[in-house]
Amino acid sequence: MREIQLTPEGKALQEALRQWDEANPLTEEEILKQQRFAAQSKWAQESLNKYPSKVIDQKITDSYAAYHGDCVHVLRGLPDNSIHCSIFSPPFPLMYTYSNSKYDMGNVTSIAEMLEQCRYMMEELFRCMVPGRSVFVHLTQGVAQKLRDGYIGIKDLRGPAIKMAEECGFNFYGEITIDKNAQVKSIRTRDVGLAFKSLVSDSAQMHSALSDFVLHFRKPGENPVPVKAGGASKKYPEAKGWITPEQWILWARPVWYGQDYLPGTSNNGTKAGLTCPKNVGIQETDTLSTITAKDVQDEKHLCALQLPVIERLVLLHTNPGEIVHDPFGGIGSTGYVALKHRRKAVLSELKASYYKQLVKNLDMALAERNALTLFELDEAA
Ligand SMILES: C[S@@+](CC[C@H](N)C(=O)[O-])C[C@H]1O[C@@H](n2cnc3c(N)ncnc32)[C@H](O)[C@@H]1O
Repeated sequence: MREIQLTPEGKALQEALRQWDEANPLTEEEILKQQRFAAQSKWAQESLNKYPSKVIDQKITDSYAAYHGDCVHVLRGLPDNSIHCSIFSPPFPLMYTYSNSKYDMGNVTSIAEMLEQCRYMMEELFRCMVPGRSVFVHLTQGVAQKLRDGYIGIKDLRGPAIKMAEECGFNFYGEITIDKNAQVKSIRTRDVGLAFKSLVSDSAQMHSALSDFVLHFRKPGENPVPVKAGGASKKYPEAKGWITPEQWILWARPVWYGQDYLPGTSNNGTKAGLTCPKNVGIQETDTLSTITAKDVQDEKHLCALQLPVIERLVLLHTNPGEIVHDPFGGIGSTGYVALKHRRKAVLSELKASYYKQLVKNLDMALAERNALTLFELDEAA
């Protein structure tokens, strides 16, 4: 786990932010006029050159490295070919603003702006990835709103995100559609296109619920250390891996269904030794925030990644002891799952309150893992 040079208590970085703020006060109106992005890009680039790989705070242990800071700065401090798998949800543009920081990639006014910001990160990530290993980007499509955009519809984020990643050198290798419960979405979003009322009054305006996507990219090149994840089966009795053929049959599907859509499937998660008890389907509520984030005030805006999604990707694409990375760490879901499965975690997060919770959650994963080990020892005795 690598320490990144720390600005004395993050002072240089914070001072730079303060001075820039003072010299360039920005109004809400300016943000809406998209002037902010141009300033942001220029500022971010200048600042990167001036303060390469500096963070505001960090916690480095044998099992994880948690960085409070901008993900691009953090990646710039990491060695070439050192990350075995990267799994993340970028800040969704036009949906949430996580902080006022000029580094906050959710602080943009369009998909194009967000991708231009993300490109800095993807370029660095490409350098840091082990050849032949995978990056997973979890996202949902943007929405066009009547008030803001003049119409109701979908704004394509998926396509431009694939193009941007390819331009950074990655091969587009696969994608998974994550099923959604349309009724839950309808209640939560009050989307007229999903409502029974519209079905009766004018069904011409109906549309299906938006799914999530997990885009799968690979760095070209030979994977230096194979991941032998497959467990023993009739055909391969000698195999020593951790994934059963039954699990792969389910996980190889292009759609990962919700638990509610898999009638008759049983709860086999604990048997398989997995973190998420309902391992057979992806529950909307299978997130770390449901378990822990009561004290993170704006948890409802976080949009935490579902733990079973992370779990399948970690188990399929890494060996125990390898490094799993998340540039947009949030409250630490990726690291939590990675640690529970005896991988190492490298995470960055910009927002102070999330970073604090992230560190707590990573420590909780280690505590739970150790408790499990003691329990297993007890059982075996
Ligand atoms: C969609 S959320 C990620 C949630 C995370 N997957 C989880 O399950 O907790 C995106 C996160 O990116 C963070 N973020 C935005 N810009 C960032 C940057 N430049 N560097 C690091 N984190 C950033 C936001 O504060 C937010 O927590």
